[in-house]
Amino acid sequence: MSDKNDKFKTQETILDHLPEHEKSRVEANEHSTTGHEWDGIKEFDKPIPRWWMWTYILSIVFAIGYMIAYPAIPLVNDYTKGLLNWSSRDAVEQQISEAKLAQSVYIDALNITALDDVAGNEELMIFAVEGGKSAYAVNCVQCHGSGAIGSKGYPNLNDDEWLWGGTLEEIYTTISHGIRFDEDEDSRYSEMPAFLTDEMLAKDEIAQVAHFVRSFTGLEHNAADAALGAVIFEDNCAGCHGDTGAGDKDQGAPNLADAVWLYGADQQTLVNTISTGRKGVMPAWAHRLDDTVLKQLTLFVHSRGGGL
Ligand code: HEC
Ligand code: HEC
Repeated sequence: MSDKNDKFKTQETILDHLPEHEKSRVEANEHSTTGHEWDGIKEFDKPIPRWWMWTYILSIVFAIGYMIAYPAIPLVNDYTKGLLNWSSRDAVEQQISEAKLAQSVYIDALNITALDDVAGNEELMIFAVEGGKSAYAVNCVQCHGSGAIGSKGYPNLNDDEWLWGGTLEEIYTTISHGIRFDEDEDSRYSEMPAFLTDEMLAKDEIAQVAHFVRSFTGLEHNAADAALGAVIFEDNCAGCHGDTGAGDKDQGAPNLADAVWLYGADQQTLVNTISTGRKGVMPAWAHRLDDTVLKQLTLFVHSRGGGL
């Protein structure tokens, strides 16, 4: 019911909005109609506006011209090439070669510039870091994470805490030769023994030394166990991790006193680490990537959290 009322309302409003002279013509029924009528609304029989007609004709003319000039009609094994002989493939190839040409200037410059000197050339540095960023996104995110923040077993590359050193030279070596990567004879090597598996320490000794490790960073620990652990640490661990737990970058032995943990610092995780060792492996990239890319990656990683 209310539906019907609405319809009448609509009809009235349309009429209300017409200019006065049109309104009187409509009311006098002067326009010829197509004879269609719906609910009192009639369809006028009028030509479409002239501008519309011209737009229509011009678009047809344009389309014919376009088909003559550009590739357009598919044939059985080929297609019409068009008078301009333009091809989207050629256009892309040309853009790529122009981009390569533009880059080659920087690539050549990067190849002959020592890592330490790149930062002195602002433009070159931007090129290197940006290139490193994209190479990182392709090769490194799966382990170190998209923001390079790492995860359990995979170091964060943003902080200034380094297992193997944070100078340009050290980072370059790490990336080029990997860590504990057997296929590269220059790979970084240092293996923490698996103290339980190798029967170097008993279970309770491992628990004690774990308490001592927790004491470095003020984590909750049993003082009596930690005191016993201190002696065990001195004898078994200090050679790599240092007397004060500060670590040793030459041996990739992490700092145990800095509250940055590769595997975790709860008692159970520490016991696991010490019992079986971790032996994290990072592939060597020198075999897979150009030296230019290795340099770009080095500068990128260094720009995020490098040291002197
Ligand atoms: C398959 C996993 C994996 C991939 C891929 C990987 N890494 Fe690593 N990366 C590791 C692990 C594991 C370590 C730590 C090794 C250890 O425990 O000593 C590491 C360590 C590093 C370090 C040393 C950090 C430090 O504190 O000294 C750098 C630098 C590094 N990676 C850079 C890269 C770059 C750049 C790429 C990409 C080209 C990359 N990594 C790809 C697993 C990976
Ligand atoms: C031969 C050198 C060496 C010795 C000895 C050694 N470590 Fe390690 N330690 C390492 C290296 C290298 C790592 C890096 C982890 C890996 O293997 O990937 C490490 C890792 C660790 C970690 C993990 C740190 C983290 O951030 O998660 C702990 C904890 C640790 N060691 C404790 C000890 C204790 C306790 C001892 C003595 C019982 C010991 N280590 C003896 C070399 C050594």
